[in-house]
Amino acid sequence: MLLSGYGKVTDIIIIDAAKRYGTPFYLYDESLIVEKGNTVLSMPNAYGLNVSYAMKANSNKAILQLLHKLGFRIDASSLNEARRAHFAGFPLNRIMLTTQEIPLNKDRRDLEQMMLQGLKYNVCSLRQLHLIAEFASKHHINLAMRVHPGVGTGESVTRNTGDKYSCFGVHLTDIEKALQYASTMGLKFDLVHTHIGSGGSPVEWRNNIERELSFVEKYFPDATTVNFGGGFKEARMPDETASDIHDLGLYAKQRFEDFYKRTGRKLTMEVEPGTFIVANAGYIVSTVLDIKQTGPDGFEFLILDGGMEANVRPLLYGSRHPFYIVSKQGQLLSSEFDLNGFDSEKDLRVIVGRCCESGDSQCLDANGNIVPRVMAKPETGDYVVIGGTGAYCSSMSPYNYNSYIQAPEILLRTNGELQIIRKPQTLEQMIKNEMSLD
Ligand SMILES: Cc1ncc(COP(=O)(O)O)c(C=O)c1O
Repeated sequence: MLLSGYGKVTDIIIIDAAKRYGTPFYLYDESLIVEKGNTVLSMPNAYGLNVSYAMKANSNKAILQLLHKLGFRIDASSLNEARRAHFAGFPLNRIMLTTQEIPLNKDRRDLEQMMLQGLKYNVCSLRQLHLIAEFASKHHINLAMRVHPGVGTGESVTRNTGDKYSCFGVHLTDIEKALQYASTMGLKFDLVHTHIGSGGSPVEWRNNIERELSFVEKYFPDATTVNFGGGFKEARMPDETASDIHDLGLYAKQRFEDFYKRTGRKLTMEVEPGTFIVANAGYIVSTVLDIKQTGPDGFEFLILDGGMEANVRPLLYGSRHPFYIVSKQGQLLSSEFDLNGFDSEKDLRVIVGRCCESGDSQCLDANGNIVPRVMAKPETGDYVVIGGTGAYCSSMSPYNYNSYIQAPEILLRTNGELQIIRKPQTLEQMIKNEMSLD
């Protein structure tokens, strides 16, 4: 039986994978990644569309290769991300580096080599501009600029990247200073970028189109491409609504056509989603190790072999993920997408991991309070599957906390086969860089 409202993962696949690889592991559904990827690649546009994948969401090499094949470019957040994308097969001229870091020494030399081969450097601060100007000018390399628009939106305050509480990009009030300096150095910006936040309101995403086009018109005469960042809202839970990509594309198309009428300039649109491409394609499969009750007024806790070290999002943001209970015989006992027949008072349970940390729970609100959820009652040895975990889980989790190993990653191929795409870490790998006292 299919687990969720999307994709191809069934209870039989969960059991098969659990028997082959042992829990916990991440399981990704290739068919859903391809479907989501194609949805964004076919977004309506006026004069051309570039789609990059924000690889911070999930940087596994096999996922990168899959998206490279589909026609994606790469949004890299660090020099190492750019290197990883290149190792995975992306040519450097399909990678843009948008970073807070200031590469020095060997990193600086590598950055220059990569830029000479086409890596796009997205200037994110005045200091970055000053440090790259001479090199870019000498080699006639056009730059991109990330503009801090002063307005943002996000699924939580910590994922709003556009307002005054976050410091990404050159603030609008510094643009004139930056451009004056750039012109004395003979530099051109052919790409303008903003990213207002992750998982925020699609209405704000729309509003940013007008805002960004207006400062492109005012300040960036050489821009040929306008990047709106990522941040398309995805619906992980049944009560959430995803961004309508087609609708946003139609809206943007109109704005680009208006811009052309006003200015005679035909701009290429660029977007760089991470979450939307991979979030719902991912599942964490874990085993119920123990079941405990905290007294008559307390809660029933299911203790899993994969918790915060596999998915830290509930602890970090209070994020909700869909839960599925699969018996050890392989039967789907409950799905977040069909909880009819369960009692909203008696079937409340709390999912926790095995770390020595009271915040190691998948049932937390944004203040860190436990919020029990409705699900079937499993036995020890049954499986709990946590959905919506394809983005910002394996790539962002504190996996060696309590010395647990980094869990393996498995890809369910479109032909139904399971393929391991990252082996489990070993204890030896975890400690191999540590040095003994003499
Ligand atoms: C510059 C940039 N682009 C794209 C993204 C991807 O955002 P999302 O995963 O919400 O699509 C992020 C994430 O914060 C980002 O910082």
